[in-house]
Amino acid sequence: MKHFLSGILFFTLSLLQAQSVASPSKKITLDFKLTAKGQPTYTVSYKNKDVVQESAMGIKLKEKPALDANFTILGTKNATFNESWKPVLGEQSSIVNHYNELTVSLIQNETNVKMNVIFRIFDEGIAFRYDFPKQTELNYFIISDEVTQFNLTENYKTFWIPGDFDSNEYEYNETKLSEIDNSKIDMNNGIGVKSIPGKHIVQSPLMMKSDAGLYVNIFEAAVVNYPVMHLNVDVNKYKLTAQLVPNAIGDKAYLQTPCVSPWRTIMISDDARDIVSSKMILNLNEPSKIEDTSWIKPMKYVGIWWEMHVGKSTWDYAGSQNATNFADAPKASGKHGATTENTKRYIDFAAKNGFDGVLVEGWNVGWEDWNGNWKEEVFDFTTPYPDFDIAAISAYAKSKNVKMIMHHETSGSVANYERHLDRAFENMVKYDYPAVKTGYVGKIIPRGEFHDGQTMVNHFNFVARRAADYKLMVNSHESSRPTGYGRTYPNYVAAEAARGNEFNAWSVGNPPMHETILPFTRLLGGPMDYTPGIFEIKMSYYDKSKTEQVHTTLAKQLALYVTMYSPIQMAADLLENYEKYPDAFQFIKDVAVDWDESKYLQAEPGDYLTVVRKAKGSESWFLGAITDENARESEIKLDFLTKGQKYKAIIYEDAKNADWKTNPIAYKIRTVTVTSKSKINLNLAPGGGTAISFELMN
Ligand code: NOJ
Ligand code: CA
Repeated sequence: MKHFLSGILFFTLSLLQAQSVASPSKKITLDFKLTAKGQPTYTVSYKNKDVVQESAMGIKLKEKPALDANFTILGTKNATFNESWKPVLGEQSSIVNHYNELTVSLIQNETNVKMNVIFRIFDEGIAFRYDFPKQTELNYFIISDEVTQFNLTENYKTFWIPGDFDSNEYEYNETKLSEIDNSKIDMNNGIGVKSIPGKHIVQSPLMMKSDAGLYVNIFEAAVVNYPVMHLNVDVNKYKLTAQLVPNAIGDKAYLQTPCVSPWRTIMISDDARDIVSSKMILNLNEPSKIEDTSWIKPMKYVGIWWEMHVGKSTWDYAGSQNATNFADAPKASGKHGATTENTKRYIDFAAKNGFDGVLVEGWNVGWEDWNGNWKEEVFDFTTPYPDFDIAAISAYAKSKNVKMIMHHETSGSVANYERHLDRAFENMVKYDYPAVKTGYVGKIIPRGEFHDGQTMVNHFNFVARRAADYKLMVNSHESSRPTGYGRTYPNYVAAEAARGNEFNAWSVGNPPMHETILPFTRLLGGPMDYTPGIFEIKMSYYDKSKTEQVHTTLAKQLALYVTMYSPIQMAADLLENYEKYPDAFQFIKDVAVDWDESKYLQAEPGDYLTVVRKAKGSESWFLGAITDENARESEIKLDFLTKGQKYKAIIYEDAKNADWKTNPIAYKIRTVTVTSKSKINLNLAPGGGTAISFELMN
């Protein structure tokens, strides 16, 4: 009898050693296997061809046996999930979440530690995570490393930024996997901190393309109570290994069961549009934990911002950042941007042109000390400068039906911000500010922590959760890049977390291909506050000696409102610059920021992107088309428009001789009547773009 039972057990176990699951469309297959040593491994194929060869899985623990071998399978479970859900704000009003799931329950011999691996196989990719149930043996542990590998089969073309643990504000490098080398690149990340641990460590999302035209993207979703995953590339073997960001003493994560790791994701398609339109990262996050979301609203805004970046005014009151504190620099310099008078001018402009909000930076005491972060108690987030009458401004904005957007620059002093957070949020409620832009320039205080470590990930998520208690929306700058947490806390409306337009004001800037890559990388995790809309392209306009410039044409700045999805979009240029070009400015006034539908018509990372979107609850459509440094011509069909209807199309395009470098402002505007049967020619200049609004005619 005993013999018979163990025979059955053996039979069942050997059957279980390998598992295979296909995506709903059957294009992608995931295979799971335990090796002879009992190590969990996975393989991924696309259209019957291996894309990820057998790759190791597991976790290494501090002072405990590693969870990467000696496992036995306790059981497996298959499931299918198919639902659609409605994001509060988004690129589309309904999102389908369809996947096949495999759960493998593992137990480690001798230690008896249980670990489950959960796989989800979508049509555009696969995801997996480690799940640690409550158990008797190991309920508290320190992760010292993640073993997870992505064992690729070839030398992909790769769009990468260096694996800096403190900043994601880099321009992309386009090289083969084998040519990744951090020591050769410009390290200007704009936040004054560099923490690059190795030559071959890059950030995720990592976008790749094979010679045969296969697109592969490696990223992660639902990073909660866990550090960010960068990727350590074996440049000879095309093997990538998870590189978790450590804390000040070198540990990666502290966990208590029951708990899970973030999802590790691999998107695969032979059509780039499948990657750029994928909602997989959002789908892998928990549904909204906010019940009443009626206060979460899209916003178009202007602000006292670009004027500081171009050097016209200053954040600090005295115009001198050399003073050691505000008491030493009590005199107004006449250059301070955030004055009551200037703010009212912005409020008037917003009201006149239909903008929802006004952001004001440099309104509060502390900017004398913000740079270099020597001082822990740098800001209190409630004390305005003497020339910023917050009560009067709040009342004035209310009278004009304009909302104020708060600014909380922490300059990396994070413990200080958390100490003040409730008072800072109460202050916003008191003065009726519905949204805050946060900022984390500089080294983190407490010292030794990185922007991408577990503690900071927890901070960024906590700020969003606590803001929800006050019904406030959050747009973070210099945070770790989003991984879809905005589905769970939809008040986390946007983040910067990549190299924004601001770099064009004071650095070598963002090369023309930059904005064609971001939708394939940074934007997969959530909206980006890129701050488009710069019309005065060359900084010599402000100061003859300056050579910096925006690396696009004016028309491309318009197109970015459509290609760079965000429900909170800034019209970033100076008001007087918009007044100079009222016909082009009309597009920024008209364009929507929240959508029913989005269709990516043309997409190639590093080259071009064309998307059309239907405004939420309206019959209007908007098109954005952008290119890199190459001019591009194409013809697009308007078959997305409702059949049998006529639309007025206003086309904002590059003038014939436009060029981002030599003639960036030259644009032309034409109006045509179109139907779903019409075609339109797109003529993009080098570094150029086209923006179109389609309005239903009666
Ligand atoms: C960097 C942010 O990205 C930028 O928008 C802001 O103006 C400065 N920090 C100052 O807070
Ligand atoms: Ca920034």
